[in-house]
Amino acid sequence: MRKVIIIGAGLAGCYLATQLQDTCDVTIVTKKSPKDSNSMLAQGGIAASLDPGDSPAEHAADTLTAGQYHNKPAAVNQLVATGPKLIQQLIKAGMAFDRQADGQLDFGLEGAHSHHRVLHANGDRTGAALTSFVQSQLHRVQWQSNTTALALKVQDDVCVGITVRNERTGQLETLTGDAVVLATGGLGNLFPLTTNNQTITGDGIAIAARAGAAISDMAFVQFHPTLLTLHGQCYGLITEAIRGSGAILVDENNHRIMANVAKRDLAPRDVVARHLKAWQQQGHQLFLDISAIPNFTQRFPGVTENLDNHHVPFRTTNRIPIQPGAHFVMGGITTDLSAQTSIPRLFAIGEVACNGVHGANRLASNSLLDCLVSAEKAAEKIQALQPLTIRPTATTNKPAVKPILPTLTDLQDKAWQYLGVVRTRTGLRTFLDWLAQFNYRQLTPEQLSDNELAIANLCLCANLIANAALAEPKSLGAHYIKEPAAKKQVG
Ligand code: SIN
Repeated sequence: MRKVIIIGAGLAGCYLATQLQDTCDVTIVTKKSPKDSNSMLAQGGIAASLDPGDSPAEHAADTLTAGQYHNKPAAVNQLVATGPKLIQQLIKAGMAFDRQADGQLDFGLEGAHSHHRVLHANGDRTGAALTSFVQSQLHRVQWQSNTTALALKVQDDVCVGITVRNERTGQLETLTGDAVVLATGGLGNLFPLTTNNQTITGDGIAIAARAGAAISDMAFVQFHPTLLTLHGQCYGLITEAIRGSGAILVDENNHRIMANVAKRDLAPRDVVARHLKAWQQQGHQLFLDISAIPNFTQRFPGVTENLDNHHVPFRTTNRIPIQPGAHFVMGGITTDLSAQTSIPRLFAIGEVACNGVHGANRLASNSLLDCLVSAEKAAEKIQALQPLTIRPTATTNKPAVKPILPTLTDLQDKAWQYLGVVRTRTGLRTFLDWLAQFNYRQLTPEQLSDNELAIANLCLCANLIANAALAEPKSLGAHYIKEPAAKKQVG
C-alpha cells in the first residue's frame, strides 16, 4: 500500500485523506490538534455555481476579474468546473449546507461576485461545519497531533519523507512515504492583525523553500477589510457575508466610506482594504453598520457570539469596530494543476500552494473550494505513483548555530509597516535591510524551539514577500505600491 504523509489538518489535508484512505496508508501530522486550522475559522462560505441561474463561466469570470487576470486560466476553469461536483458529492454524503424555508440551498453574496453563489452552514460557521464533516468521514488514517514539521528528506532530488518533532516529548522522527503533501495554510501571523489561527506561521512555504522548491506570487497577500478590532487588537473575522447581506462601512460620523467606489461595500477586498486604510490614516475610526440586517443574530450566530464575548454593544449601536488585517496569501509553493510541486513526490494543496487559481487577489469564498479541488487532483496523481524505494541514509549532525532572531512582535510590526496594505519600494528595501541582521537562513529547524522555528519560518516568508514585491513592475491586485514622490528638479 502506498504511504502518504499529509502535513496539516485543515479542509485540504483532511479532504485529501478521505480520497486516499481506502487505497493508501495515510498519516496526518498536525502542529496542535485536528481543530486548529484556518479552515475551521472560515465563516462566509464556499462558492460554487450551483444555482440554476448561475454558471461555471460566470464564476470563472468573477474569479479572473477579482484576480486582476493574473490567474492561470486553466486553474480557474478546473476550480469552477470540478468544485460544484465535489460539493454535490459532499451533500449526498450528508453535509448540511443552510437551506431556505422551501428546502432550496441558500446562496449568500460576497464581494466581487456577480451572483448569489456562496453556500454556508450553521449560519456563519461554515468552515467548522465543513471541516468537521470531512473529518467525520475519516476512518482509516493515523493522526500525529502536537507534531511540528521541520524539514523535507530529499534523496536524488526526490522527496522521500519529512522530519517532524513531537512537541510534548521533543522526539524527532523521520516519516518516509511515497508522497509528502504540504497542506499547512498560509502565513497570517506574520502580521499583528490577522484572521488566522495562531498555528499559521508560514511553515509549509518555509519548509519547501529550504528544500529548493519553486515558490511564486509571494507579493500577493490579501488583507481582509473587516477584522473585529478593539484597542488595536484583533479578535477575529467579521465575515464579508455581512456586507453581502446589506451592512455598510462607515466612520465615526456615519459617513459611508465606500460611497463613491464601483460596487461600493462589495468591491474586491483589495480595493475595500485600501480605502479603509486611507480613511483611517486621515484620523477616522472604522465601523461596519449592520442596521440594514433585521435578523443579524440568527443569520450570523458565530459573529454574534464573538461580539458578545468581547462585550461589543452592537445590539444598541448597530456598529462593529473593524480594521483591515492579513487574511490569505495568494502566493506559495508553485504547483501544477495536480498539486505537484517542482520537487517530485512533494505535493502542496490549499492556501500553502500557488497553482495560480487566485491570481493577484482571491475572490471571496474560493479558498475552501480550492481546498477540495486541489486535494482531489492531488489524490488522482498520488494514486498513480509507482511505489518508491528509499535508501537508508546516515543522519548528519550539523554544528549548532545560535539563533539571532527578532521577537515576533517586532517582526509583525515591521511587516505591517512595510509589507502591509500599501507598500513603497523604499520601505521594502528598508525592511530587507532590517531583516538581514538575523540569521534565519543559516539555522537548522531541528535545532530550534517551536517558537524560534515559527519566527524563522515567518522571516523566510517575509523575505520572499519583500523580494517578490520589489520584483513586481507595478501595483496589481493585493500588491499595491505607492511610489515615493519623484525628486523635484532644481533650477
Ligand atoms: C469571509 O467570510 O469574509 C471570508 C471568506 C473568505 O475569505 O473567502
